[in-house]
Amino acid sequence: MAVLFKLLTVSIVIACFICSGQAQCSLSNVIIKQSNTGVWIHGKPEIQATINSACPCQQYNVTFDVAGFQTTEEVDPNILNSNGLVYNGNALPKADEEGLKFKYAWDSLFLFKPISSQIACS
Ligand SMILES: *[C@@H]1O[C@H](CO)[C@@H](O)[C@H](O)[C@H]1NC(C)=O
Repeated sequence: MAVLFKLLTVSIVIACFICSGQAQCSLSNVIIKQSNTGVWIHGKPEIQATINSACPCQQYNVTFDVAGFQTTEEVDPNILNSNGLVYNGNALPKADEEGLKFKYAWDSLFLFKPISSQIACS
């Protein structure tokens, strides 16, 4: 009986480690950096955006709110499609890895707001 109770306690503790690890990751772990390239595309300044995830687990199926997004340069749909899906739903590179890059061109930076993502911890 005592052994069973101990086992139960240990599994609850382990389960909570896992759940708290996942709880640490959220949409705020999606990092998007933007900078002007100095190039003009169809009369608009070109901007390069780089996307990473600061989550130590896999953060995938990330979507941005792209309502109102405009660009005079075609954006690579494998990185950001017209529905705001990033990288075809694949996991984002980690913070210390090379980020996903895409370019667009408009008068001002567009504030890409992540609206959904999924987390998988191994
Ligand atoms: C990705 O997210 C969307 C909505 O946020 C969901 O409907 C879909 O099932 C997810 N895809 C995968 C592969 O988990």
